[in-house]
Amino acid sequence: ENLHDFVASLPKAELHVHLLGAATVDTVLDLARRHPAAGVPAERAELAEFYTFRDFDHFLKVYWAVQSLITGRDDVHTLVTGLARDLAAQNVRYAEVTVTPYNHLLDGLSGDDLLDGLAAGRAAAARDHGVELAWCFDIPGEKGAKAGRETLAFALGERPDGLVAFGLGGPETGVGRALFAPMFTAAREAGLHSVPHAGETTGPATVWSAVHDLGAERIGHGTSAAADPRLLEHLAEHRIPLEVCPTSNVRTRQVGSLEAHPVRRLLDHGVAVTLNTDDPGMFGATLNGEYVAVAEALGLTRGEIAQLARNAVAASFLSDSPRDALL
Ligand code: ADE
Ligand code: ZN
Repeated sequence: ENLHDFVASLPKAELHVHLLGAATVDTVLDLARRHPAAGVPAERAELAEFYTFRDFDHFLKVYWAVQSLITGRDDVHTLVTGLARDLAAQNVRYAEVTVTPYNHLLDGLSGDDLLDGLAAGRAAAARDHGVELAWCFDIPGEKGAKAGRETLAFALGERPDGLVAFGLGGPETGVGRALFAPMFTAAREAGLHSVPHAGETTGPATVWSAVHDLGAERIGHGTSAAADPRLLEHLAEHRIPLEVCPTSNVRTRQVGSLEAHPVRRLLDHGVAVTLNTDDPGMFGATLNGEYVAVAEALGLTRGEIAQLARNAVAASFLSDSPRDALL
């Protein structure tokens, strides 16, 4: 059995994938044709060029342009069912999917259309693809405390089925995690899990802040923790998993290559590493591809690869009984 077939045969969970960033090239081309004013290319070659990211900030600008294409309930439904189809093809049985309500609402989508599209898409994902979806609603950090308060109010006011986590995304530079401490405290008191992005584009101090100020139970990315031995020890000892997204980090030019990715160092220090795609449609990533690439770059044994898949199940917010049923 070759490596790819082995990876494909593993039942998997994915813990870090943005609903919008999962839109396939075909889906985005279709949306772009329907909304020519949004500035997203509607031709394949131009979209590929558009998806060549110069740096992380450029990636976010592109991401926000694509976000503006999502204007109705059916667009949301298309995103969710497309993601479920693609997850099923990777033998992913369960995923925690990040959605950024505040930004979608700013772009003119109504809260009801967002929630209806998510709910109907989630039902179809289970029914038609055998994939269980859970939601993480995240704060767009660049929009500040107001976005934090409104994301919290939306999450707790609506409490859609499957909402399990509260997050923080967008840029890290100039966006201290601690600004959002009150919203994370309230979200955790209401039973949502804390999963902020940290240490993707800034150093280990941001990861420490996510841990201390936001009560992070997992870290989105956390790759810069590799530079801080005390932090590595803390993450390992307290079993705070990292949602590592290797291709994403290469495509946004945070690391030079998969071979140069600090995932080896994270593993060597006993950190609970999970592998994820982040924005698979925009990065041309697949979850099986992430496993294969890391296994090849690090020379992992089959046992070590299977352990990475088990790490994601263990780090998920699935409770024990559905976990046994799904994975
Ligand atoms: N939103 C979508 N992808 C993101 C990423 N990799 N980091 C922060 N915010 C994001
Ligand atoms: Zn992310």
